[in-house]
Amino acid sequence: MEAIRIERLSKTFANGRKALDEIDLRVEPGEMVALIGASGSGKSTLLRHIAGFTASDAQPSQIAILGRPIQQNGRIVREVRSIRRDIGFVFQQFNLVNRLSVETNVLVGALSRLSWWRRLTGLFPRAERALSMAALNEVGIGEHARERAANLSGGQQQRAALARALVQRARIVLADEPIASLDPESSRRVMDMLRALNVDHQLTVLVSLHQVDIAMQYCPRTVALRRGKVVYDGPSAALGPALLKKLYGDDARELLDETRDSAHANHATHTATVAAPEPDNPPAATGYAFALKPAHSN
Ligand SMILES: Nc1ncnc2c1ncn2[C@@H]1O[C@H](COP(=O)(O)OP(=O)(O)O)[C@@H](O)[C@H]1O
Ligand SMILES: [Mg+2]
Repeated sequence: MEAIRIERLSKTFANGRKALDEIDLRVEPGEMVALIGASGSGKSTLLRHIAGFTASDAQPSQIAILGRPIQQNGRIVREVRSIRRDIGFVFQQFNLVNRLSVETNVLVGALSRLSWWRRLTGLFPRAERALSMAALNEVGIGEHARERAANLSGGQQQRAALARALVQRARIVLADEPIASLDPESSRRVMDMLRALNVDHQLTVLVSLHQVDIAMQYCPRTVALRRGKVVYDGPSAALGPALLKKLYGDDARELLDETRDSAHANHATHTATVAAPEPDNPPAATGYAFALKPAHSN
């Protein structure tokens, strides 16, 4: 069973803008997948649909989380809250409650698992507190547990958001440009933590990123969006400048600027072999389906 399964997902906003166009996507449990694309390509819209925050167009379509539909044919299912317990959502702008302590913010992750009277009284069981401290220590900000969230740096707040996903016992983390507001050093630490959630806790991670070099460094697989369509789904290592330019055309510059100076120098050779695969003859070495769209592969 897939961690995330998306079939024929389209979204047209009220203003007529088609933000998602027949998306088909499967993510297996334990994968760490990058979602890349220029601004406006549909990354946030896709992640919000997967979490059941937004309903798709009313056409035959489905999104299932660990085998349970979260929305179908443009309708979010009644049990959305229970399904969403498996999902930790990390936002670009941190989304902590500033006036509450870091620890309380992280404990909020446990709320969906606590009884109604504990939720009302704000009494968290000792076990939850211990879990929350362990999570904060794991992401390296245990010493800030009692501080107000507002006092933390952006990188620390983002690590608190990851601790919250751990305390929630989420199985899947959806992170929407989690490092877009961070300096390079904080970005690296947040990405390291995301990888630790993936490797040490076997969480499935789908992370949207603006920087292709970060995607290549941390995520074995990349899904690229352009104007609401999946235009690439395959090994991140094959995402060289030539392929990006081919996929993104004039938009490539925006994605490549941050990549050009990085140490990944040997992409051209990969690109030559991967840029134009036969749909029926994918590279054999990869562990998952490789597709170069719009040539329909399924
Ligand atoms: N609530 C909305 N109403 C109308 N158009 C929207 C809305 N949200 C996003 N869009 C449009 O949908 C497209 C995809 O946006 P988005 O998912 O935010 O892209 P990304 O996250 O890749 O930058 C853009 O053209 C954007 O302007
Ligand atoms: Mg976005």
